[in-house]
Formats: sequence, structure tokens, C-alpha cells
Amino acid sequence: MISVNSVTKRFGERVAVNNVSFTVETGEIMGFLGPNGAGKTTTMRIITGYMPPTEGSVRVNDMDVFEHPYEVKRIIGYMPEHPPLYLEMTVKEYLRFAAELRGLRGQRIKEAIDRVVELCGISHVFNRLVGNLSKGYRQRVGLAQALVHDPEVLVLDEPTVGLDPRQIVEIRQLIKDLGKDKTVILSTHILQEVTTICDSVTIINNGKVVASDKIENLSRRFAEKLSILIRVRRPEVIDIDKIRAIEGVENVQWSDEKSLRVYLSADVDIRERLAGEIFSMSAGLLEFRTETPGLEDIFIKVVTEELNVT
Ligand SMILES: Nc1ncnc2c1ncn2[C@@H]1O[C@H](COP(=O)(O)OP(=O)(O)OP(=O)(O)O)[C@@H](O)[C@H]1O
Ligand SMILES: [Mg+2]
Repeated sequence: MISVNSVTKRFGERVAVNNVSFTVETGEIMGFLGPNGAGKTTTMRIITGYMPPTEGSVRVNDMDVFEHPYEVKRIIGYMPEHPPLYLEMTVKEYLRFAAELRGLRGQRIKEAIDRVVELCGISHVFNRLVGNLSKGYRQRVGLAQALVHDPEVLVLDEPTVGLDPRQIVEIRQLIKDLGKDKTVILSTHILQEVTTICDSVTIINNGKVVASDKIENLSRRFAEKLSILIRVRRPEVIDIDKIRAIEGVENVQWSDEKSLRVYLSADVDIRERLAGEIFSMSAGLLEFRTETPGLEDIFIKVVTEELNVT
């Protein structure tokens, strides 16, 4: 389990991470989502003990990261944004080096390497120089080094960046499998990545957490803000005030010259009433569609709302 408690990180005047708190349960995969410069990498560096917070604390499996740096590093696998790959080493040498760094010795090194080479699909590049590998394969080697000591907790900073679509599918599946018994936090810009592999999501913007929840809860919370899109043949006969007057309607706006978007308040199902009203106006109903916000809408919404505030 990872628990981040009121973490703030300042670089001089710049506040990169601002009072961030969240937890990731054991066996949970959390997607850490946010635009460029939001503070994802900085937060991950603090979680993995590579950088101290200015304020706040992080506990991993109930150990404070800065009070127990060695114990914590032993149970964390970290794949940084730019893994420090040694380009003049072969994959084999590099993984051996990574395993030794994590305290593995003797026969356990070979076993560990065999396991991650198989897991990450890099057996056919095993004897090649890291510097000669394609970006995608370097990424896999970066993941392999994070897994070499079979850590309970995985921190992956944009693990699918630079991979081709087929590799993305494979690596996502691998992370999903690993997440069955490990605690995983992965950062990404890709919303689809979050919906396909994560159990929960934390959205960060300008260093602040703007949303943090199970994916289904987040969708449900925002789904309360349903809207209905109505497209008609004769927009000129629509009496907007009449629609606004319907109980349960929060707002009505034209989204284009023939389409109305009706925002609903929670709980009341007014679809029948609304359709009836449009019908009685003889506006020539062409389309009537309930819109549920996807994660993308939620992301844009929380990020822009936050931007509007600052
Ligand atoms: N060592 C540093 N010194 C000064 N400022 C830094 C340092 N590291 C990060 N920052 C700043 O902190 C902010 C957060 O950066 P961070 O790399 O954590 O964002 P990110 O969410 O990982 O972005 P990206 O999606 O582009 O990787 C940025 O404004 C960045 O310029
Ligand atoms: Mg980053």
C-alpha cells in the first residue's frame, strides 16, 4: 500500500507538488493522470525515495520512505520517465547490474533475470547492446530492471511512451497481470490507458489533486451531471423558456444551430416529459440522446475548472 500524506515539493519559488494526498491499496492499479508539468514525475520521485518532499510524508507498506530508505527501495520497483540505461552494456549485463544493485546474489540473480526477460519479452535482444535497441525495447528493458527484485510495489512513470500499438497492448496486459498482487501506480497522459488497466485514478493539475477515486465512482459522480442532446428540424419553433421551466432542467443551451443541449439536475428522470414537450412544439425531432460523460470529459472538466480558478 502507498499512502501519500499532504506532500508539497517546492523548487525555489516554484511549487511543483502542492499538498497532495492519496492512497493506493495493495492489489490496486492507480492511474496518475495529468497534463505536462502537473507534478506526476516529482510525486513519483518522492514516493520512491529519490527526492525528499518539502513538506508531508509518504508511507509504503506502512514504512516511512525517508525513515527506512533501504527497506522501502527493496520493496519498490521504479521505472523512471527516462530509465538510466547504460548504453554500452548488453541487456544481460545491465539486468545483472540492476539485480546486484537491488541486493540479489548468486543463483538468485540468474533466476531473477530469466523471469523478467520472459515477462517483458526481451529474450531475443538479451545479448545486444542497450544502446542499439529501439525505443520500445529500451522501454521494456527499463520495465525489466524495475521488476528484477520482484517488488511488491511498482511505480511506473509513463510506461507505454514510445511503444508501438501492439507493444502497448502487450505491456498494458503485463501491467494488468502484475497488478493482481502488486500495488501499482502508473502515470500517463492517455485516458484510455487508465480506463483499460486501472482500478482507480488520481488526476493532478498544477501540482494539486483535482480528483481521486475509483474509476466507477468518478464516472458515477460526474454522471449525475447528465445532459440530453436534442436535434430538431425546425429550431425556430423551440421555446427555450418552456424547456427551462421543466422541473429537473438545470440549463439549456444551443450546441449548434439545430441542436439543443439540456443539462439535468440529478435524480429526476425527465426524458419522457422533455420528449413530450419537444413533440408538442412540432419542432421535427431528429435526434434525442442522453450523454454520459466519459473519463475524457471528466478530465477536461476538472483540469479546466482548476485552470479557471488560478
Ligand atoms: N528539479 C527541478 N527543478 C526545478 N523545477 C522542477 C524540477 N523538477 C520538476 N520541476 C518543475 O515541477 C513541475 C512539475 O514537473 P513534473 O516533471 O513533476 O511534471 P509531470 O507531471 O511529470 O509532467 P510530464 O507529463 O511532462 O512528464 C514543472 O513545472 C517542472 O518544471
Ligand atoms: Mg513526468
